[in-house]
Amino acid sequence: MFAVKRMKKWWKDRIAYQIYPRSFQDSNGDGIGDIPGIVSRLDELSDLGGGIIWLSPVYNSPDADNGYDISDYCSIDPKFGTIADMDRLFAEAEKRDIKIIMDLVINHTSDEHEWFKQSRDPKSSYRDYYIWRTPKIAPDGKKLPPNNWTGFFMGDVWEYDEKSGEYYLHLFDKKQPDLNYKNPKVIEEVKNVLRFWLDKGAAGFRCDVINIIYKTSLEDGKKGPVRGIEHYKSSEGNHEILRELRRDVLDGYDCFTVGETVLVDLEEAKLLCDESRRELDMLFYFEHLEIDRRIARFIPKKFRASKLLDVITKWQQGLEWNALYLENHDQPRIVSHFGAAEKNRPSGDGTGWYWERSAKMLSLFELSLRGTPFIYQGQEIGMTNFDFKSMDEVDDVESHGLNRLMKKMKIPGFLRWKWIRASSRDNARTPMQWDDGENAGFSRGNPWLGINGNYRYINYASQKNDPASVLNFYRAMIALRQKSECLKYGDFRPLYADNRLMFYQRVITKGAPDDEICTVGLNFSSQELKLPGEIAGLLSGPVLISSTGRTATEGKLLPWEGVLSGNLKLTS
Ligand code: NOJ
Repeated sequence: MFAVKRMKKWWKDRIAYQIYPRSFQDSNGDGIGDIPGIVSRLDELSDLGGGIIWLSPVYNSPDADNGYDISDYCSIDPKFGTIADMDRLFAEAEKRDIKIIMDLVINHTSDEHEWFKQSRDPKSSYRDYYIWRTPKIAPDGKKLPPNNWTGFFMGDVWEYDEKSGEYYLHLFDKKQPDLNYKNPKVIEEVKNVLRFWLDKGAAGFRCDVINIIYKTSLEDGKKGPVRGIEHYKSSEGNHEILRELRRDVLDGYDCFTVGETVLVDLEEAKLLCDESRRELDMLFYFEHLEIDRRIARFIPKKFRASKLLDVITKWQQGLEWNALYLENHDQPRIVSHFGAAEKNRPSGDGTGWYWERSAKMLSLFELSLRGTPFIYQGQEIGMTNFDFKSMDEVDDVESHGLNRLMKKMKIPGFLRWKWIRASSRDNARTPMQWDDGENAGFSRGNPWLGINGNYRYINYASQKNDPASVLNFYRAMIALRQKSECLKYGDFRPLYADNRLMFYQRVITKGAPDDEICTVGLNFSSQELKLPGEIAGLLSGPVLISSTGRTATEGKLLPWEGVLSGNLKLTS
């Protein structure tokens, strides 16, 4: 299949770590994480084995969507520091051989961006930077939005501007107007932004909602959860823009791009990531995190490991190279989602709590797949969903939009709260739990978002020197992967899965004696389970690493156990 055939790239060999700056480390006591704070934690990152940082937005922003509404692309918001701080971050990261990729949010700007402020004037040369349209007029003379599209934050997508008598399009919040990619000037502006950060030392970009930037038409949309999406998702115009950015800017630098792609299917993804088309290097899809959710991630349904294996197999085998992730700043914590965060009780056999074991098992899962792994801050210590008590503690613009929509639909309060608690993006945004001291070592001031009450026992400091901790499991798993050609580049081969168990292999077939094969077994349940007959043989050899510390499977997997066994050839 694919293995080792393609060119090796530095970004295929490294582990990436996502930093959500406002929640990572505060250095000046204002309750908001900042760039000097990140600099002070680079050693922790090195120690983990991280070789790439994806930095969520640090640019000037009024924070309607926590920085994903940018008012100046070539600036650093004072709450995060200064351009000089950012230069220091690049330099300090380089000393530790860590590359930094910036977040590129170009579907929309903030409505407080200079371009949009100018654009409000119909005569301005910036008018065409955004998508302005005259209203439709109802028979009774009432002004109506130009089309029937629905947005990603559960609200309207058109905002009426009294002064000019027109509406502007915003697929997200009304403070995030969409840019008009039919205007070549907009593309030139974006190229300058790319050059600015690449010249400063950025090693590439994580590209926000990058497959929906080009709107082919503004016709009414068909019925569906995101009405109108057929007029812009993965459109030909979108592909062309990506190629143009690559040709005119990115190709001049040793950098890579990873696209966040909305509702992408495999066929679209293949085009976006095909090496010869020169669009994206890899992409984030969402399907694996939605196997136990309805309507994106909002309403839970039963988890089945077999479904997860089907989805993972499809993407592992369908794309030459994957961006691997289980968490980011928009998703619930993985140990609260696929793991056993709520089962904080000893497992009874002295090998760890279910919370801890499942966090390790999920680490083994992510880090034994083919692709570039992205670890989200706090994932490496098994941070769990926020224990918020009411809507007042929720900051996320999306959760508030969802709550308003569900209220309109007359969904009872207890259900609304249950779904928001499980799905809110704030679950991943609570401050990093560094130690068991004041504000979990995150800030001397009042943190911008509540700290999870479990910081006294889930924190970095307590795990650092504990050989059996989740953190040290991540370190060990990363170290193992970094020494193994097979774990990084081997082909993926599914073996077997049912509701609770999943098995697969990673394989290199260069011809004996260089062949390598390793088998992974994962138990997504609190039950001890017998290995299916055909698997028991494959897992009968010595276990190289397991989430329980066991070195042999003896025909079974313990609750929440993950094991990896095989004949890996490790480099020193
Ligand atoms: C995806 C980002 O990850 C999310 O946080 C943001 O709200 C939307 N794009 C809009 O920029």
